[in-house]
Amino acid sequence: MEVVQLSSELWEHMPNLYTRPGPIESREQVEVLLREGFSHAFVRLDAGDDRSAEDRLDRLVAERTFSPPIRPRVAFEKEIQVAAMAYENAMVHARRIITDVKMGRKVDYEASLETVGDIVESAVRNPDTLVCLSKLSTYDEYTYAHCINVATISVVFGEYLGMGNDELINLGVAGMMHDLGKTAVPSRIINKRARLTDQEFDEVKRHPEYGCRILEKNGDVPEEVLEAVRHHHEKYNGAGYPEHRVKRDISPLARIISLADVYDALTSDRSYKDAILPNKALAIMYGMREQDFDPMEVQLFIKCLGIFPAGSLVKLNNGAYGVVYESNPALPLLPKIKIILDEDLHPIPSELVDLAAEQALGHANLEILECADPSAYKINLKPYLTRKR
Ligand SMILES: [Fe+2]
Repeated sequence: MEVVQLSSELWEHMPNLYTRPGPIESREQVEVLLREGFSHAFVRLDAGDDRSAEDRLDRLVAERTFSPPIRPRVAFEKEIQVAAMAYENAMVHARRIITDVKMGRKVDYEASLETVGDIVESAVRNPDTLVCLSKLSTYDEYTYAHCINVATISVVFGEYLGMGNDELINLGVAGMMHDLGKTAVPSRIINKRARLTDQEFDEVKRHPEYGCRILEKNGDVPEEVLEAVRHHHEKYNGAGYPEHRVKRDISPLARIISLADVYDALTSDRSYKDAILPNKALAIMYGMREQDFDPMEVQLFIKCLGIFPAGSLVKLNNGAYGVVYESNPALPLLPKIKIILDEDLHPIPSELVDLAAEQALGHANLEILECADPSAYKINLKPYLTRKR
């Protein structure tokens, strides 16, 4: 296999990441790297691979020669209530800043820092709680929920990359405010259900600059945040807007926000489309590498969220259904799940199962067959995820 050249400074935070580009030709070489303390690397996938995105994702999992470091976490059950409070407060704050901007008032930046600070603290204690919560918001609150989901998913990914507290707060604030410029686009265009005309689309494409200008006028927003807002629709291949920047000329925070923005948009219900299942959304995003995203960055994003991200409903090989409450970055196919429904979709007393621990004990017969769509079965996962048992 060949270790690829990492194209950005984003990954310098990753501890134990082997980054010297070039071939690794033997198991012995891998052993040497492991002994030297390297725990993971990124390797090139075959050029000209024409299999489906899902197949390629499977292959990505199979190729996990290295595993990411394991950090101590607070238990999901303990953190979920605190995380839910931080998420709710952030929703209230998002409503407030959008109203303030519409009314021509200053954004309360200090309060934004506090709100995002709570999200960052929760992400450090247990990132899966926030990933779950981002999947529980409902369609009618999309505008505000999207701001907060982009902030939380960005922060979770930034934390995975090993970013420090101050940088995570800038990232979260930029995520929360990334679309603030849409308040300056006429609402008849923003709310239009029919296809936009070219002129209308050009106007929508100005929202990153509008957002940046609004925040510049605030006078207290750091340059990294302004830059992230301005660049959040730029693409790896230069086909984005407004400046057609390419690759690492796009600010690092903007590249993270762009991944979170697309992931949340794909996995959310909108007036014109149904939500796509999280694992399918990640497969689609993997197919967008080289165009929208840096290939290495999107691989890491997938590794961070897991093949079955927290909050996914999954069908097991015994017919029962469970909800993923904790992903397993080292063994993405073996997350922790809460079994909640029998094969006829009837609720059963919930049972927590750590699939990796089960396998380690030799009870390897329980496995995930596929992701299921909770809305197709009219199942509301929120009570299952937020109550104690
Ligand atoms: Fe946007």
